[in-house]
Amino acid sequence: MDGTFNENDISRIVEADRAHVWHHLSQHKPYETTDPRIIVEGKGMRVWDQNGKEHLDAVSGGVWTVNVGYGRESIANAVRDQLIKLNYFAGSAGSIPGSIFSEMLIDKMPGLSRVYFCNSGSEANEKGFKMVRQIAHKRFGGVKHKILYRDRDYHGTTITTLSAGGQDERGAQYGPFTPGFIRVPHCLEYRSFEQDGAPVEGYGVWAANQIEKVILEEGPETVGALCLEPVTAGGGVITPPDGYWERIREICDQYDILLHIDEVVCGLGRTGTWFGYQHYGIKPDMVTMAKGVASGYAAIACLVTTEDVFDKFKDDASDPMNYFRDISTFGGCTAGPAAAIENMKIIEREGLLQNTVDMGDYMTGRLHELADKYHVIGDVRSKGLFLGAELVTDRESKTPVAEKLVQAVVGDCMQQGVVIGATNRSLPGKNNTLCFSPALIATKDDIDQIIDAVDGAMGRVFG
Ligand SMILES: Cc1ncc(COP(=O)(O)O)c(C=O)c1O
Repeated sequence: MDGTFNENDISRIVEADRAHVWHHLSQHKPYETTDPRIIVEGKGMRVWDQNGKEHLDAVSGGVWTVNVGYGRESIANAVRDQLIKLNYFAGSAGSIPGSIFSEMLIDKMPGLSRVYFCNSGSEANEKGFKMVRQIAHKRFGGVKHKILYRDRDYHGTTITTLSAGGQDERGAQYGPFTPGFIRVPHCLEYRSFEQDGAPVEGYGVWAANQIEKVILEEGPETVGALCLEPVTAGGGVITPPDGYWERIREICDQYDILLHIDEVVCGLGRTGTWFGYQHYGIKPDMVTMAKGVASGYAAIACLVTTEDVFDKFKDDASDPMNYFRDISTFGGCTAGPAAAIENMKIIEREGLLQNTVDMGDYMTGRLHELADKYHVIGDVRSKGLFLGAELVTDRESKTPVAEKLVQAVVGDCMQQGVVIGATNRSLPGKNNTLCFSPALIATKDDIDQIIDAVDGAMGRVFG
């Protein structure tokens, strides 16, 4: 192939993909005998593949990203206009869309004030880790450098973000890892019976106190930050138990530990508030975000901090090392903030936060109906349009169903033209949660179609 073929010549596209493209998170052996899937077009909640087959997308682009749905011309136009005016200049200078988007964003995040641009969730998290390390070196003789992360959470794909990864299958075979990252226990109440001494009442405070225990064991003077997802995503859609976040904030204040909240999935509307942490009335010190910032119309991620954190990087201007000595080449791409401005305007104009709350409630109710019908659904967890259904062999033992059966449900839905997700290569023996994250524009009809597909699939797989 010479690369000059027509983009409408789908069989050649498929062959070029088969011959040259290395897909993410994929075993390629099956593509020797079956065609790789090519997604050709999207509109609203739906995408079409190379065979013209329509799919209702219940996972917003596979990895909970396309929050405002496909085919948004107003975002495309905003990006086009900006690219013609100025596509790029390094982040040492500002840009018009960067400045406007920062103000719009900070307006939604009371108590925070500074936005650092980059282009992936992993990168944003890693920048947060770098800030913690730099603060430790400048102010605490390098001692207060440890970063705590939680069992079942995920913060990215680089070696260092995997060092902060609580999903052992994600990290397997990629060590050795970066030192100074310490694991703390998860807060999944449904599986609290697996945790020593977990109480039936007051689990949220107890689970937060398990983190305090680790801090005391490590020595609070060595711990710089605690990095948590507001609602754990790929680790099984874990909604926090009551009282958990309030106690977390108290603990961080008590031991002078920065609270870094990873909003890469929850960020911009997914749970029905702009950010997941805003359900719990707490103020983080650092917030990272990526996927929903521009709904995948451009690659953009942000690390947002308080003025207090920012000040630590400018309060000693006589020290030539006392500023954030970080570079993000593509953090200077203006397409990102241009898309993000319009993405945020769409969420406001179309009332998508409220729709997320309403449709999230509706879908949660429909999942509970399915749970009444299929006892293999042991637990339904949700916040807005971010939902999970954990599958177990029986409700007493809560033994996870075999991963291949979970994947069979996903595969059956795909056959029916509905794309759903499941925990995947995350947790050894516990990849047993079906995941749903439809775009924030979802209607009742869309949700009914998703639930009908799952219903049919469950009937066929579990009888
Ligand atoms: C909670 C969370 N943080 C960080 C990341 C990493 O983001 P990216 O893939 O953009 O590097 C992900 C990706 O799925 C995520 O779910």
